[in-house]
Amino acid sequence: MSEIVVKVSDTSQERAVKILHSGGLVAIPTETVYGLGCDATNRHAVAKLYAAKGRPSFNPLISHVSNIDAAHLQGEFNTVALKLAKLFWPGPLTIVLPFRKNGTVCDLARAGLNTIAIRIPSHESTRNLLENFSKPVVAPSANISGRISPTLAEHVFQDIGDKVDLILDGGPSSEGIESTVIDCTDERPSLLRLGALALGDIESHVGELRKNTSEGNTPISPGQLLKHYAPTARLRLNVFTPKPNEALLGFGKTENATLNLSVTGNLTEATANLFAMLRELDKSYDEIAIVPIPNEGLGEAINDRLSRASNTRS
Ligand code: TXA
Ligand code: MG
Repeated sequence: MSEIVVKVSDTSQERAVKILHSGGLVAIPTETVYGLGCDATNRHAVAKLYAAKGRPSFNPLISHVSNIDAAHLQGEFNTVALKLAKLFWPGPLTIVLPFRKNGTVCDLARAGLNTIAIRIPSHESTRNLLENFSKPVVAPSANISGRISPTLAEHVFQDIGDKVDLILDGGPSSEGIESTVIDCTDERPSLLRLGALALGDIESHVGELRKNTSEGNTPISPGQLLKHYAPTARLRLNVFTPKPNEALLGFGKTENATLNLSVTGNLTEATANLFAMLRELDKSYDEIAIVPIPNEGLGEAINDRLSRASNTRS
């Protein structure tokens, strides 16, 4: 393997922290699966991460932190959330919470939602890394979208070795499947994703979880949650000529754009700016027109997001 795969050591951890600070991507070992990590507060880094994953839509990401105090800075814990955190952290449990008003994790990492998913991994070297970096790290499983999650550094290398700055080799992931995801934004917690922490273990402490069963016993797909996000302004897509009262969100060489996602037509830059600019325009306009975005690479995810946001007004 190449020199980007390095065994966990003080030196490699230092290198990882530097890369994270400079907005790069580092694959990190966790007890569940290997994660593709970057600075959760840096929307340019997060845009790069989505590009590396090659997903056609923005899934909200899990913010990894080293301790409960760091978690409190980002999410609002109710009684149940606190109980679950005390029982199962560090470990393979992800808790979804209301996002704290002055939390620092960027909009893009949360896919624009007012909630945040947080986890303290039990993998010791990664917890040390998080401690040293001292900011939250978002990390989806370190595979290309649609492929199997990696449980060895060499899996990561095979899948996305050309897209990361460093792969920390911390040995095989002991659990081998992703964390269990529980939504605690409500007093009665609900199951969002089955995972490494058994359901029975959770329910024996907090009672039966709500299961958003659309069909049979399958938890509601996270994708379906995304339709809850939308600006209050009305969105009109694929517009070349805005009406007089509309803001115009441009891309590339757009004349008279109120704001431009990327003047150079760069889709990664556009992704980094998407939520911030929508939010900005939403403050001062009731209607936002958006020029066509090329439907390739990250453009597919941008269009997916925009069409959801434009459809949710009733
Ligand atoms: O074990 C794991 O959880 C691994 C390791 C690397 O920590 N990470 C992982 O991340 O599986 P990812 O991005 O592949 O899955 C994140 C899951 C998705 O199902 C996503 O929809 C859900 O967490 N999620 C994240 N933020 C959410 C939010 N605000 N509301 C609801 N679901 C959320
Ligand atoms: Mg995954």
